Amino acid sequence: MTQYQHITGTETVLRDGTIKLHGPEAFEGMRKAGRLAAEILDAMAPLVQPGASTEDLDRTVREMMLDGGAVPATLGYRGYTHSCCISINHVVCHGIPSSKTLKDGDILNIDVTPLLDGWHGDSSRMYIAGDASLKARRLVEVTYECLMIGIEKAKPGARLGDIGAAIQSHAEQYRYGIVREFCGHGLGRLFHDAPEVVHAGRAGTGPELKPGMFFTIEPMINLGKSPVKLLNDGWTAVTRDKSLSAQFEHSIGITEDGCEIFTLSPRGLHKPPHE
Ligand code: MF3
Ligand code: CO
Ligand code: CO
Repeated sequence: MTQYQHITGTETVLRDGTIKLHGPEAFEGMRKAGRLAAEILDAMAPLVQPGASTEDLDRTVREMMLDGGAVPATLGYRGYTHSCCISINHVVCHGIPSSKTLKDGDILNIDVTPLLDGWHGDSSRMYIAGDASLKARRLVEVTYECLMIGIEKAKPGARLGDIGAAIQSHAEQYRYGIVREFCGHGLGRLFHDAPEVVHAGRAGTGPELKPGMFFTIEPMINLGKSPVKLLNDGWTAVTRDKSLSAQFEHSIGITEDGCEIFTLSPRGLHKPPHE
């Protein structure tokens, strides 16, 4: 049975399996953290160019977080030592920034989570270095549609399974593979909390959505088959068949009549092309 817990704002919040329900001050906190995440992702758009190294992008992410009064939630998280994840081409998620440089035609996801005044703003977008193939661009476009179609289902009275079902049905129209090994998640004071937001499933199943719930939706969609494997670094997840993979992520809060997206781009740079 799903358990919900009202959060007043000052208590210690535990990862105890309960779904937290937040009030107006928490929404305000998430709005600020989410806005910083979105501003950082906006700032990445002109920097993603062939020849740029992913550790340079990571440095800019860290500097912008610190300048904004936040800390990177990923820094020191379960031993992760970078300020964002950068996942290129067949990397599904949790790509580690390095001295590796981007090539013309690379598609990549940048995933950032500033922790600001105790609130986590978790968001990621796709970028294209130079010019990508039509099939790569279509994968990126459809993955963005999957995220937004999922968000449209997020309102009080709906079930969590409605979101996964909508995403699955859209992705499958294109015969894309939907990654099952990684999910969206509740967040707020905690980075990763209940519920688990699966990007496939059956409508009408799962916990009921209630005002004050905060969670991410972050579908990972593959040009080929769904299965993923983890590289020896313990982080980098890649498609088993080496097909291209795309992902977009927003952090949202359920409101009385729908949802609020905390991580919308202030400059309208939600998807490529970013020119
Ligand atoms: N931001 C990722 C997410 O969407 C989590 C990254 S954890 C890290 O949940 F340690 F890999 F950075
Ligand atoms: Co997330
Ligand atoms: Co993320």
